[in-house]
Amino acid sequence: MFRVNENYGKLQGSYLFSTIARKVAAFTEANPDKKIIRLGIGDVTQPLTDPVIRALHSAVDEMGNAETFHGYAPDLGYAFLRETIAENDFRSRGCNISADEIFVSDGAKCDSGNIQELFAEDSRIAVCDPVYPVYVDSNVMAGRAGNYNPETGRYDRVIYMPCTAENGFAAELPDEVPDIIYLCFPNNPTGCAISLEQLQRFVDYALKNGSVIIYDAAYEAYISEEGIPHSIYEAEGATKCAIEIRSFSKNAGFTGLRLGYTVVPKELKCGDVSLNSMWARRHGTKYNGAPYIVQKAGEACYSPEGKQSIRELVGYYMKNASAILEGLRDMGYTAYGGVNSPYVWLKTPGGMSSWDFFDYLLENANVVGTPGSGFGAAGEGYFRLTAFGTHENSLAALERIRKL
Ligand SMILES: Cc1ncc(COP(=O)(O)O)c(C=O)c1O
Repeated sequence: MFRVNENYGKLQGSYLFSTIARKVAAFTEANPDKKIIRLGIGDVTQPLTDPVIRALHSAVDEMGNAETFHGYAPDLGYAFLRETIAENDFRSRGCNISADEIFVSDGAKCDSGNIQELFAEDSRIAVCDPVYPVYVDSNVMAGRAGNYNPETGRYDRVIYMPCTAENGFAAELPDEVPDIIYLCFPNNPTGCAISLEQLQRFVDYALKNGSVIIYDAAYEAYISEEGIPHSIYEAEGATKCAIEIRSFSKNAGFTGLRLGYTVVPKELKCGDVSLNSMWARRHGTKYNGAPYIVQKAGEACYSPEGKQSIRELVGYYMKNASAILEGLRDMGYTAYGGVNSPYVWLKTPGGMSSWDFFDYLLENANVVGTPGSGFGAAGEGYFRLTAFGTHENSLAALERIRKL
């Protein structure tokens, strides 16, 4: 008789966004006349930009011609894209990253879920609390998280680094030394960023203690302030202790197109073992490359025109973020984030629980957000609104909240 991976039984409930979808579906069925505004899931709403669309069309035409047809893509990504990424996202910022340290993929979710495969089964992980759920759940599935304690809302083998209003939502260095530290800045869900000095402290800690950092920079394009690192490799020594994950979803609107990449520096080693070689091997075995047409679309994001179009796209969402942040503060809410990221993290009013506020907002304002507690115990009492809606909807949602 076959047996299943029993670690799956340790996952808590259904994935956060499935629960939200279920609640919204039930509400819509009971109230078919109500028009819901969704500021919950971090999906974009604006179309792909012109330079991207032109690159896609042209790549599609190439695929229809025997001379320019492309079959399987190289597992690790086309050189034209890896070179462009290394130059524009890293070397131009003074980070010494080369094309053969870039691994192109179909997005940051897969990479951030899969990367744990490189590490020993009994590794201890540390995560921010609240946290993007993929880091924890992928380690639960792999058997690293231990048992879930319903009283604390935590897994007993995971080291949590609370991100609270008191510490400016910048995680503090853990007392207990982890093997793997997951960081995401600018952060989902709190929308807060950390300074280069704060990031350097994590890098120094990892180097001193022999930990590896998995740095998710999916929201890098939203950084608007000086002094906020765009890449972990801006911190000294990070190429010896950090892996960085990036996405084309939030900057260029590729959520439906699917493209991302992971940087595994060649200097990152465990003894003699190169993690770059391990990830290359893993990619080669389990992944057959992001589609040619999508990689051409990715390359188009780096032309002068492509960069300008991305600035405009990000600017559109950041206008929403400012409107939401300022609007909520005007109404007397305590709200954070929204300056270097498309997320606003607000304190629920009157000590309401995150899910109670979710229901209250859904029922009375017909606005969908995300309960902070869905991201971890320290998210209780908070609520996330995203700036990824249309500008009209963002303003309309605010008006509805104002009237409550
Ligand atoms: C922190 C973080 N990482 C990764 C992702 C997923 O990105 P992708 O669309 O590239 O899979 C998200 C999506 O919401 C995210 O918030």
